[in-house]
Amino acid sequence: MQNIEFTLNGSQIEVSIDPRESLLHMLRNRLGVFGPKEGCGKGECGACTVLVEHNAVNACIFPAGKVDGLEVVTIEGLQQGEHLHPIQQAFIDTGAVQCGFCTPGMILSAKDLLDHHHKPSRQEIRRAISGNICRCTGYSKIIDAIEYASKDVSKS
Ligand code: FES
Ligand code: FES
Repeated sequence: MQNIEFTLNGSQIEVSIDPRESLLHMLRNRLGVFGPKEGCGKGECGACTVLVEHNAVNACIFPAGKVDGLEVVTIEGLQQGEHLHPIQQAFIDTGAVQCGFCTPGMILSAKDLLDHHHKPSRQEIRRAISGNICRCTGYSKIIDAIEYASKDVSKS
């Protein structure tokens, strides 16, 4: 076992892990953080997306030990007090959530994009979520939501 310390959604965490386990396994099975979903388990669907140092990663193939000393944000860390993050609100307002399985990953990929690029084109949005699969929405409303959020997110 290996002890690591990192920041999870603003709180300092200390946890003992198996050096071979994934970040997704640690979050869900050791820490009870269920926002990141397990879909394919091999880096292809984006359901497990979280932010490590403000960059979206596939937690299912990201070694848990690599977050030692770093900052991790999951969908649980986006809400600000009583208020949803503007990207979360935009997904609701535009009807971009159906079953919701892809939604945490989509929103965190969108956050990575909007943190680095405040006014992306629809093409750039499409590229940013190209690693996130949605089986329900046909993507148009998700792209609408991210475009809509880009008008608001610079204020958050
Ligand atoms: S569960 Fe990680 S990319 Fe599919
Ligand atoms: S809303 Fe169901 S997979 Fe995207």
